[in-house]
Amino acid sequence: MTDKKKMSVAEILAAARAEGRAAGTGDTSSAEDKPDAAPAAEAAAPAASKPAAPKAGAGGRPSVQDILAMARSGAEKPAAEAPKPAAAKPAAKPAAKKPAAAKAAPAGQGAKKNVQRDTASILAAARAGAKPGPVSKAEAPAAVRPAAKPAGKPAAKPVRPVPPRPTRPQATVAAKKPATEERRSFLSYALGSFMAVGFTALSVTGGLFSLGLARFLFPNVLAEPPSRFKVGSKEGFPSGKVETKFVAQYGVWVVNGEFEGVQQIYALKTVCTHLGCTPNWLEAEQKFKCPCHGSGFYKDGINFEGPAPRPLERYAIRVADDGQLEVDKSKSFQEELGQWNNPESFVTA
Ligand code: FES
Repeated sequence: MTDKKKMSVAEILAAARAEGRAAGTGDTSSAEDKPDAAPAAEAAAPAASKPAAPKAGAGGRPSVQDILAMARSGAEKPAAEAPKPAAAKPAAKPAAKKPAAAKAAPAGQGAKKNVQRDTASILAAARAGAKPGPVSKAEAPAAVRPAAKPAGKPAAKPVRPVPPRPTRPQATVAAKKPATEERRSFLSYALGSFMAVGFTALSVTGGLFSLGLARFLFPNVLAEPPSRFKVGSKEGFPSGKVETKFVAQYGVWVVNGEFEGVQQIYALKTVCTHLGCTPNWLEAEQKFKCPCHGSGFYKDGINFEGPAPRPLERYAIRVADDGQLEVDKSKSFQEELGQWNNPESFVTA
């Protein structure tokens, strides 16, 4: 009685169907073909082959038809119609209880396993972000299921995405320089500037020194007046006149005077025959007077006082093609040598 209470209606019905097919057709292969009825058929097959099974059907144990009818009508106690003998109890127990218990037990455990949650699957599902909260093994992804990993190897750590490192802006780096670097840059800049100034000054000084040395070695030739120059026509030099306007530029007096009874125009050299000073023409005294040592010369250039040893010298003079008087300083004539008689030393007035 206690065994029947443990069996559910579905179990009893499955066992009855398997037993009925085995008894009616005598073929057990049909029961094996159906997966749902396989445990019941296997459990019912020994019961049908045993001699205790017909004994129970004929005796106190209800037959398959009775059980089927009782199941269909919903009655749970067939003992009212057919009281079960005490002897049939042990025979029916293994036939009815074992397959039903074997079938019910796996179903109940499978349901428990389906809803059972393990910590690894829950963590894997939470890291993958597939489903928040606990999940079952069947719901966990196959890739992160810890059961798929080989035993003995440590579980691989999930790769965490690393965010990209922010780049430092160039302007900020250039603007923010340490104080030591700035001081060092300033010192190097100042030192470089001083050195540049020093080298520049040295170069300029060297250039000037080279230029002065070259000028000393190769001096400029003094520009002298041309040896020939024109002083004008004869009419510009009246008789007895001493022209002094060419002294400063050419060092010459142009005189219209008398020498040895001949009126001549001649050019006297303005150099004292004593030591080379320049005498002055004194119009009032009608003489040339040397300021250095007092030598005096007449209008015709003959020395008459002072330390001058000899008369003044003459330059060559001639009438040029244009009618003007031309003085040539490249030629000089001395009176003591009798050169004043040379026609080149005078022009007849
Ligand atoms: Fe003319 Fe001595 S230089 S008098």
